[in-house]
Amino acid sequence: MPRLAGQLVEVLAAVMVGYRDGTRVGADSLMNGAVFGRSDAGIAALAPYLAQRDWPPGAVAARPGTG
Ligand code: HEM
Repeated sequence: MPRLAGQLVEVLAAVMVGYRDGTRVGADSLMNGAVFGRSDAGIAALAPYLAQRDWPPGAVAARPGTG
């Protein structure tokens, strides 16, 4: 299960849309269930929330492009 903290908001949103719509190649079926029925607005709100979690500590500071 990948870490989500510190990942780019755009990437998190795009992969969640891919799980929801069944367009992600090699998609994990548990993840299809996790985002089933989510709205675009719900995903757009969730992505920055996930990206800003700082676990393990320092994950956000290590985000590519922010150094
Ligand atoms: C609120 C619920 C959840 C959210 C928002 C969420 C979010 C995400 C996101 C954004 C990714 C993509 C990460 C990346 O590609 O860098 C991901 C991948 C994954 N998640 Fe979840 N997840 C949730 C629940 C779960 C649950 C309940 C499970 C399993 C019990 C799970 C298992 C996985 C696995 C195995 C992957 C990697 C699969 C792949 O690469 O296709 N997730 N999750």
